Amino acid sequence: MRKKGIMAASHSIREIEPDRIFGVAKVAGDAIAKKGFDNVINSTIGALTDDNGNLLFLKSVMEHIRNLKDSDLAAYAPIAGLPEYLEAVKKAAFRDMMPDGYIKAIATPGGSGAIRHAIWNYSEIGEKVLTSDWYWGPYSIIAREHLREITTYTLFNSDYSFNFNSFKERSDELIKEQGRLLAIINTPAHNPTGFSLTYDDWCKVVDYVKTKSEQITIFIDIAYIDFSGGMSEARRFFKLFENLPENVLILVGYSMSKAFTLYGTRCGALISITSSKAVSEEFVNVCTFSNRGTWSNGTRLAMKTLTDIMTKEELLDKVDKERQEYRELLEKRAYAFVEEAKRIGLETCPYNGGYFISIPCDNPDELALKLREKDLYLVALNKGIRFAPCAVSMEKCIKSPSIIKSCL
Ligand SMILES: Cc1ncc(COP(=O)(O)O)c(C=O)c1O
Repeated sequence: MRKKGIMAASHSIREIEPDRIFGVAKVAGDAIAKKGFDNVINSTIGALTDDNGNLLFLKSVMEHIRNLKDSDLAAYAPIAGLPEYLEAVKKAAFRDMMPDGYIKAIATPGGSGAIRHAIWNYSEIGEKVLTSDWYWGPYSIIAREHLREITTYTLFNSDYSFNFNSFKERSDELIKEQGRLLAIINTPAHNPTGFSLTYDDWCKVVDYVKTKSEQITIFIDIAYIDFSGGMSEARRFFKLFENLPENVLILVGYSMSKAFTLYGTRCGALISITSSKAVSEEFVNVCTFSNRGTWSNGTRLAMKTLTDIMTKEELLDKVDKERQEYRELLEKRAYAFVEEAKRIGLETCPYNGGYFISIPCDNPDELALKLREKDLYLVALNKGIRFAPCAVSMEKCIKSPSIIKSCL
């Protein structure tokens, strides 16, 4: 018999947790309305803003969109994505570090869509998907939505270097249990910590997966790659994915949200790198089917915009220069926070780039509430709190570490 108030299917009845990020952002907005912007530090937003909290957009990108034809703005795109976009997005992801191999892309709504397709198509229902213990919360929601679960390894050694042994141990266990592995690695400029695997860390991961005979899929979430140091240096590790054994598939989750400041336009791609023609063709088939079976086709205007930018040298140069200015602004703020934290003895996770910095602590929710009383609003995670230099002025970035330390 139907219970009163229940219409949803059993798999859709889940505990509803308030969204940690958008929830606190609303509270911070209310505080600003009451006390004024200058008197509140709103470090909840996951987007780049100017010092007054206004979203920053790449003007060259916006201008380009405004000049697109109606048909480019509003017509359907092919299910897998515009063919020219599927080439251009590889260039945007890899730049001068495109590995040799079979490389294919499928358009998705943002990096989130790429994560969804990777989980749905490269793990079995009921399986565990591996990621690090500091991770972007929606991984778990996307996994649960698709009847999988996230399980974690320990990201850091005690000196905050990459804990390869933990990655290896947990991978070995899952391979033994499940006969296959899907691991999500968010680098460079990991959300929430700002940490990046070094080239040597990647060498260890690649050497390890080469020893396996089972199906191994590594999904690399590069949502912040264009905000993490030099264009080529940040991408050098892609070259390690050449000539991998056929049982190892590399998937790359590309997002236009940050790189082109098109957060709400919802465009990205899932890109595969493999040494097997058959695996590459299978990738295109399963992901095209998934596109049709979920959101159908993607956002044509964003695909057209990225294609135009990546194929017109002058325009690309303009966009790159503008983005570089934003990256410098972000880095100035982030390193000001890190330097001040160091000076006063506040421990932070290592920051190598990206929108966020994390401060490890024992009672993150409690600390975040205490900080609200001091008009500092940030996001509580499981293992610490997340500060967002992307949305906080330099002056407030310098002020924040001592406020946090006083509440710890
Ligand atoms: C780590 C990480 N991965 C992926 C995404 C996906 O972004 P989108 O779906 O907006 O492209 C985000 C967005 O905040 C992110 O922080």
